[in-house]
Amino acid sequence: MLNIVLFGPPGAGKGTQSQMLVEKYSLVHLSTGDILRGEVSAGTPLGLKAKALMDAGSLVPDDVVIGMIDNKLTQHKGAAGFIFDGFPRTVPQAEALDALLAKHATNISHVLALEVGERELVARLVLRGQSSGRADDNEETIRKRVHEYNTKTSPVADFYKQQGKYVGIYGIGAVEEIAGKLNKAIAGTKVH
Ligand code: AP5
Ligand code: MG
Repeated sequence: MLNIVLFGPPGAGKGTQSQMLVEKYSLVHLSTGDILRGEVSAGTPLGLKAKALMDAGSLVPDDVVIGMIDNKLTQHKGAAGFIFDGFPRTVPQAEALDALLAKHATNISHVLALEVGERELVARLVLRGQSSGRADDNEETIRKRVHEYNTKTSPVADFYKQQGKYVGIYGIGAVEEIAGKLNKAIAGTKVH
């Protein structure tokens, strides 16, 4: 199986690049943010609980997102592989993902990290906020999301560096150019 973690701060291009990778490698795209937004718009009890946290730019609890991923891995048994977008976001989530994949006799192949500085992230998301309808795409909440990333999510990079799986990729430039770098990394070529 090809199991890719697409890692990076809010607005780094995880969703955009996931779409390219899903098509090329026939992977199942698992975005915890997309799944949570689906729960919010369906008005489920989970969605109602998650909404306030998401609107504030805070992470939802680990057990909630780990449970969602567990369900999806079982639901898509037999898939060629997965692309994890926006998950794991904490070290406990990363540990849980390793355990879940081991249960399915597989593991993470690559952690591809889109590296983009805060100024560019804020500019991209403020621009998207003018049309996205996402309640968290306003400057105050964007900065909170980046802060959550810096404090809670960036340690996940070290977790995967220790496993020798982390590949940093400069994430500013044309979407196709960045996709090319991701493809090279998947093919095992060292890129930056
Ligand atoms: P989530 O939905 O994961 O959002 P995010 O990580 O904050 O970031 P985005 O999805 O906005 O950015 P992206 O990296 O996907 O970039 P995109 O391709 O869209 O999470 C939302 C919330 O859900 C969290 O705050 C939390 O509350 C909760 N949550 C989710 N997962 C969780 C977890 N595991 N644990 C706990 N809580 C969780 O691109 C962004 C913009 O930039 C777009 O407009 C795009 O067109 C543009 N763009 C893309 N590439 C380029 C480029 N190369 N050049 C210029 N513009 C570009
Ligand atoms: Mg996204």
